[in-house]
Amino acid sequence: MRHATGDHTPGTSGYDAELQRHNEVLRRAAGVRLHDHVLDIGCGTGQTTRQAARRARAGSVLGVDVSEPALGRARELARAEGLRNVTFEQADAQAHRFQQERFDLVISRFGTMFFDDPVAAFANIGRALRPAGRLVMMVWQARERNAWDVAIRRSLGGAHGPAAGASEGPDPFSLGDPPAVQEILRASGFADVAFTGVHERVYYGPDVATALAWVRGFTCTGALLKGLDPAGAPRAVEKLRAVLAAHLGDDGVWFDSRAWIITARRAATERGVAG
Ligand SMILES: C[S@@+](CC[C@H](N)C(=O)[O-])C[C@H]1O[C@@H](n2cnc3c(N)ncnc32)[C@H](O)[C@@H]1O
Repeated sequence: MRHATGDHTPGTSGYDAELQRHNEVLRRAAGVRLHDHVLDIGCGTGQTTRQAARRARAGSVLGVDVSEPALGRARELARAEGLRNVTFEQADAQAHRFQQERFDLVISRFGTMFFDDPVAAFANIGRALRPAGRLVMMVWQARERNAWDVAIRRSLGGAHGPAAGASEGPDPFSLGDPPAVQEILRASGFADVAFTGVHERVYYGPDVATALAWVRGFTCTGALLKGLDPAGAPRAVEKLRAVLAAHLGDDGVWFDSRAWIITARRAATERGVAG
């Protein structure tokens, strides 16, 4: 995936900084309420988990992720903030045995695109929701609609850039196609599936050096550079530096991006609820 490693600390660089505009959109869409029990899928270092916990003061929030280092940081940050209604658990959301019908709301900020079997994963997540409970997740739209990916690929591989390959690992754009996602969610027991386009910029840092260091940490960048010959790799990095410099403005390095907010409800069936 894209940011399995790297600095997730809020500040002028890192994932929370990159997604500062997206985060606000997700916060509003999630609309967490005072008594909600919330599950955050692929929570990483937990910015969205802590945000939900501040709203659900009479409820609770559970953040799950497969990455123990990310969860360690998430716990530290929640403790530092004195949040008592938030817990973090290492779990593969596709298979983890969540308490059934425990949650009112499932949220995710770019944490649901990496399942081996999306239907099994969303069905598993759905069982953790109470009947008619809500799913609100943010995912990337198609690769070619995301200027950051297009620019990285072009600078590392010529005019059109290399096509995405299996060596790059799980696909961050796997939920970018609405009809396909509609079908996945329907087959997983969700209803009322809706898509809202999110057109916000991503932030890579206050200057070119910071942005380059951040982008070089992406899984796709590493994989693309590895595929180049020893002379080609430094040239490609210089091209990447030039592309980042071309996107430097008064307020740092920004790229255009397109995401979806996808909302759905756990479907009711004739017998009661889907299960
Ligand atoms: C792009 S990061 C987003 C992290 C976090 N939501 C945020 O916005 O800061 C994707 C996260 O999903 C996690 N992840 C990937 N597959 C997962 C799975 N099957 N179950 C739980 N977490 C998963 C990764 O470890 C990673 O932390």
